[in-house]
Amino acid sequence: MTTPTPHWNRNATQWQLLASPLRPCAEDVALYSAGLQRWRSQSGDFSSRVLLLGVTQELRAMDWSVDTDLLACDRSLAMIRAIWPLAAFGGAHAAPVCADWRALPLPAGSRNIAIGDGSASALATLADLRLAAGEIERVLVPGGALILRLFLRPALTESLELVAREAAAGRIGSFHAFKWRLLMAVQRDANEGVRLGDAWDAFRANFADRAALARQTGWAPEAIATIDTYRNADGRYCFHTLDEFAAAIAPAFSLLSVDYPGYELGERCPLIVARRRA
Ligand SMILES: C[S@@+](CC[C@H](N)C(=O)[O-])C[C@H]1O[C@@H](n2cnc3c(N)ncnc32)[C@H](O)[C@@H]1O
Repeated sequence: MTTPTPHWNRNATQWQLLASPLRPCAEDVALYSAGLQRWRSQSGDFSSRVLLLGVTQELRAMDWSVDTDLLACDRSLAMIRAIWPLAAFGGAHAAPVCADWRALPLPAGSRNIAIGDGSASALATLADLRLAAGEIERVLVPGGALILRLFLRPALTESLELVAREAAAGRIGSFHAFKWRLLMAVQRDANEGVRLGDAWDAFRANFADRAALARQTGWAPEAIATIDTYRNADGRYCFHTLDEFAAAIAPAFSLLSVDYPGYELGERCPLIVARRRA
């Protein structure tokens, strides 16, 4: 299965310019740890054979037990090269593998925890999410944990005009929160996700004068410039509602908990814990 990853190759070069909610902050990491502990006490499973969906450095650097074996799976070699060397790891063994979550190069039942940040939205469509959920089910033991921070579309989609008005009025705190609201407003259908080049075109149409935007909002020009990785990009994100997400994973997983952080746009970025059905 080969799909080009130019968006992530470009993102690799500017990763450290991205911030919450695109990357997990300390509050998110605390929610991951609490969700993991809850699953451990419910399941009685205290071992850690972890599949990391991506190379998110904040998740690799979590407070893993010393016997943890962590395998990070990401299909972008550029992201692996740029991000993997950056994080500390307190477990026994950690390694990256360049592969697609829809065809994991792992034996059945070889992991007990799958964890990721925004991984469901990095899959381009609901159909891809169903495929990946089936693969994660295969490599997890029965009762294993799927722990993800989601990026959820609100039940009532915001219009592009509203997001543009809110930004121009200085009512959106960070450029990255704005970028997520823009992408969600441009997405028409979770079955197709949103093409990044279309979001860039919408941004350009509404904000031709970036200097004025920076003045109105207080956003740093270099943060605003991170949107240029979307220019002409055919890559897609897919933003689901919680019901769409739960239905897509339902054949394999049941939801145990949904916890929302308190930061800007946190109501769209919950941490979910799901259990692989027996
Ligand atoms: C973990 S996700 C989300 C990261 C970040 N929170 C965000 O939303 O921008 C990002 C990573 O997923 C990887 N990725 C996307 N689709 C993938 C797939 N089908 N298989 C493996 N890796 C994939 C990308 O290469 C990228 O490194």
